[in-house]
Amino acid sequence: MNGKLNGKLNGKLNVNSILLNDISNRKKTTGVMNICFILYPWEVIEPETDSSLRMVHEAALRGHKVGVVYPNNLTIRGNNAYAFVKMLLKDEKISPTITTFYKKARFKEQMFPLSGFDVIFVRTNPPLDPIMLNFLDSVKDDTFIINDIDGLRKASNKLYPACFNDPEHEMIPATHVSKNKDYLKKIIKESDSKWMILKPLDGFGGSGVIVLEKNATQNINSILDFYISGKKDSNYVILQDYVEGAEKGDVRVLMLNGEPIGAYRRVPADDDVRSNIHAGGNAVKHNLTKAERKLCRNIGSKLVSDGLYFVGLDIINGKLIEINVCSPGGITRINKFNRVKLQKQIIDFAENVVQHKESAIDRKRSFRNIIENA
Ligand SMILES: Nc1ncnc2c1ncn2[C@@H]1O[C@H](COP(=O)(O)OP(=O)(O)O)[C@@H](O)[C@H]1O
Ligand SMILES: [Mg+2]
Repeated sequence: MNGKLNGKLNGKLNVNSILLNDISNRKKTTGVMNICFILYPWEVIEPETDSSLRMVHEAALRGHKVGVVYPNNLTIRGNNAYAFVKMLLKDEKISPTITTFYKKARFKEQMFPLSGFDVIFVRTNPPLDPIMLNFLDSVKDDTFIINDIDGLRKASNKLYPACFNDPEHEMIPATHVSKNKDYLKKIIKESDSKWMILKPLDGFGGSGVIVLEKNATQNINSILDFYISGKKDSNYVILQDYVEGAEKGDVRVLMLNGEPIGAYRRVPADDDVRSNIHAGGNAVKHNLTKAERKLCRNIGSKLVSDGLYFVGLDIINGKLIEINVCSPGGITRINKFNRVKLQKQIIDFAENVVQHKESAIDRKRSFRNIIENA
C-alpha cells in the first residue's frame, strides 16, 4: 500500500500509512476526543520544561476531554480495564500560557473504562512497568495507544536496535551484550580502539554509562563483576564502540510517525562522556545533517511498523545510540530553539488517526446496512 493517507484506503485503518504531509493538510473536522495521559504525578511536573504537559495543554486547548492516570490507579472491573482518572475540569477557560494552565488546572477523579478513551498517551518515566502494559493489552484494539503496547515491549531496553539490519555498522556502532565476563573481556581485548563504552542494558538518564580504557586491565574484572552481579539475578551489560565525536555532544531527534519533527544537540560537561541533560549536558540548537536525515529515513518505517509513533533518537556522528520510546522529552527545548510548537503536530497526528479510524467504522456500518436492508 502507498505510504500516504489518501482517499483510496478502502476504509481500512492503517495507522502506519499516515504521514506528516497529510497531517499538515488535514481537514479540521475532528470532533471532541477523549484523551488519556498515563503520567507521573501532576505535582512533580516542572511546567517550564515538561514535554507531556505541552501535549496535555494542547489537547485541552482544542476542547478535547482530557484525563490523567497514574499507573497505580489502573484497575480491572468485571474483566474490563478501568482506571481512576483525574478528569480535567472544563469550567474555566484554558489559559494559552502553559504555566498558568498548569497552576489553575483542577481535576475530578472518576472511574472510567479505558476503552472509552480515543487515545491513550503512555508518558510514564522509564523503566517501563510491564504490569501497566498488561492492563493496556486488553484495550489496545479499542483505543489508539501512543506508543503501541507491543512496540513498547519490544523496545523497552537497549536491545531493540539489534532488530535493524546493519551488518557493516553503518547506522549503529558495533554493540555486544552479554552476562558472560570472559566473552566481554575477549571483546575488549580484540577491540582496535583504545576505549569502549560500557553501560547497563536497561539504564536511562546516562546512569552507569562509562568509558572503559582497554589498558586499564587491573580494573576490568572488577568493573564487569560490578555491572553483571545483581541483587537477585545477574544483569546484562552492553559494550559498544566509542563513537568518535561524542565529546561534541549527541543529537536528540524527535520522530513522529517515522519522520523527524525536530532536534537539538546536548553537549556534555567538560569532565563527562554523557550528554544527557540529567548528567549535566547543555542543550543547544541543531539543524539535522544529511547523515542524520539518512539515518532517520532508514529506521523510520520500522519504527512505525512496530507502533513506535513518537520516539526520541540519540545520535552521535550519524550513528544511532539509543531509541527512547518511553516518554521521550525535548519538546520544550526544540520549541524554544526552532520557534515551533511540536505538541500541535503530535495532537494533529492523534486526531488524524482517530478521525480515520472512525470514518472506517462508519463506512463499514453503512455498507453492512446496504446488505442487511436488501
Ligand atoms: N557508543 C557511545 N559512544 C560515545 N558516547 C556514548 C556512547 N553510548 C553512550 N554515549 C554517551 O552516553 C550518553 C547516554 O547513553 P545512552 O545509551 O543514550 O543511555 P541512556 O539511556 O542512559 O541515555 C549518550 O547520550 C552519549 O552522550
Ligand atoms: Mg540516551
